[in-house]
Amino acid sequence: MYLISIFGGKWMNIVTIVGSLRKDSYNIRLAKTMEERYKDKFNMQIADIRSLPHYDQDEENNPTQAVKDFKEAVSKADGIIIITPEYNWSVPGVLKNALDWASRVDKVFIGKPVMPLGVTLGMLGTIRAQAHLREILASSGIQAKILPPGGNEVLINFANQKFEEPTGQLVDEGTLEFLDSKVEVFVDFVKSV
Ligand SMILES: Cc1cc2nc3c(=O)[nH]c(=O)nc-3n(C[C@H](O)[C@H](O)[C@H](O)COP(=O)(O)O)c2cc1C
Repeated sequence: MYLISIFGGKWMNIVTIVGSLRKDSYNIRLAKTMEERYKDKFNMQIADIRSLPHYDQDEENNPTQAVKDFKEAVSKADGIIIITPEYNWSVPGVLKNALDWASRVDKVFIGKPVMPLGVTLGMLGTIRAQAHLREILASSGIQAKILPPGGNEVLINFANQKFEEPTGQLVDEGTLEFLDSKVEVFVDFVKSV
């Protein structure tokens, strides 16, 4: 069998961070859809950010095992996918907390290719969250290599019409085709960085 996405002699490893913790989250459903749909392109590990304590500068040099595991996963990843809802016109605190941990001491995001995505029940949700996310990712402690905007933003709206029950998978054909094309762009971006 030939592995299609051999990348520098190994499989491409992607870590996905999801900004929602709720069990029926559409954003988690998108992560799981992508994990399955693109398994011939990359290995995807969904990061556990629920276990991260609140960021505390007093603890940053001696953090919990959950923080160490999270930072190690990001540090070893070839690229990062961030899938987030919008909370109060910005990113959820749990996502910001994870990024704050990652931004300190060994600064594991520096130079990492990142693809932001968001899912909403409404029409325009996640536009502000994704704009804020791009600003956060450009900060001096993070310095990610963000997938350039201008057609590469992925905002999935009216989620309750596009994910099927009971599997929770994204099934809307037009959305999946669009997603395929943007994932292709991201895979090339990761290879080019
Ligand atoms: C605390 C909170 C704040 C929210 N603020 C916004 C918002 O500012 N803009 C928006 O479009 N949706 C907002 N929503 C709606 C969420 O984006 C929506 O519930 C989304 O489905 C959550 O993602 P999930 O299904 O992955 O959990 C908010 C929801 C919560 C719980």
